[in-house]
Amino acid sequence: TLVEERHAVAVVGSGMVGKSWAIVFAKAGHPVRLYDVFPDAASKAIPAIHSMAQQLKEADLLGDLTSSADELVSRITAAATLEEAVENVVWIQECVPETVELKKAACFEIQKALRNEKVKASFPTQLSEIVIGSSSSAIPSSSFTNELDDDVKRRCLITHPVNPVHLIPLVEIVPASYTDPEVTSRAREVLLKVGKKPIVVKKEIDSFILNRLQSAVLNEAFKLVEEDYISPEDLDITMKDGLGLRWSFMGPFETIDLNAPHGVSDYAQRYSGNMFKLAQQQSEPRKWTDEVVKTVNDARRGLLDVEKLGERSKWRDARLMQLVKQKEELDKK
Ligand code: NAI
Repeated sequence: TLVEERHAVAVVGSGMVGKSWAIVFAKAGHPVRLYDVFPDAASKAIPAIHSMAQQLKEADLLGDLTSSADELVSRITAAATLEEAVENVVWIQECVPETVELKKAACFEIQKALRNEKVKASFPTQLSEIVIGSSSSAIPSSSFTNELDDDVKRRCLITHPVNPVHLIPLVEIVPASYTDPEVTSRAREVLLKVGKKPIVVKKEIDSFILNRLQSAVLNEAFKLVEEDYISPEDLDITMKDGLGLRWSFMGPFETIDLNAPHGVSDYAQRYSGNMFKLAQQQSEPRKWTDEVVKTVNDARRGLLDVEKLGERSKWRDARLMQLVKQKEELDKK
């Protein structure tokens, strides 16, 4: 059965990521049930979702299916119980805090809710067609779904979004070894349909792909500052006015393909010797010392008071909206 707009979605955990996932699915037309273990948290999330949706509307990013923030929010309801949240859903998105214990507890609660007789009778599809995606940003799902019953754990995988989740298209899909391959392909299909850009990580690895790339860059950045090759301010300029410009629309592989007349093989022939030398220099693991963290923090605080981080995040979101919109338009050409 194909997943259709009328099919409901449950979002479990109404924090920062849960609110954004609710927007993603509601924007694409799905009824969304938002559940949180803390009473009132989900209903209190609704006004916050409204103002996020309003910002999307102002940036003309609500898409073709949604005409206003009110319409988007009208598709989202706060569910009082988990059973109520998962009744007749085709997708459950887990968004509880990032610890094995909390994720495990939430998954057992989801399994219990799915076994509820009323819930079982309500499905438009069957349990055998539900996707249970976890927003985990580092912990592979086998660490917290492996003790579930077979028929449930086959439906579980990671669907890791990127903050701010309603603006950044990427989602990392990471199946466990026991995830039904049909669930992986369904997850991909649904995410594409709701406007995301999913990638499939072929087997489990800690922190998946995006955060591993981010950590390689950050580790090198801290090292270069610690050894006093560069100031924190100039390091940020290197990315935002250099590498990052290309990386916002081409990956590193496409980048090097265009950086030698005959493509990747040519590039490798010319530069892989030097890259290997650099990899050797970069291979020594080191901690971010208190001192280097202070250097970077002081540099940032010289540019922005800590009280202004919230305001600056709004500026970031506005810039991201412009970029996402431009990319959408240019990708169409
Ligand atoms: P958060 O702390 O803002 O929200 C978590 C919510 O889950 C809270 O409202 C809490 O009351 C609720 N909760 C806890 N146990 C629950 C349960 N058993 N059932 C229902 N609700 C429960 O956390 P945040 O930032 O939204 O993160 C959620 C997940 O998303 C984490 O795994 C995180 O690593 C991941 N993630 C976070 C990103 C970020 O930038 N914050 C980006 C991508 C993924």
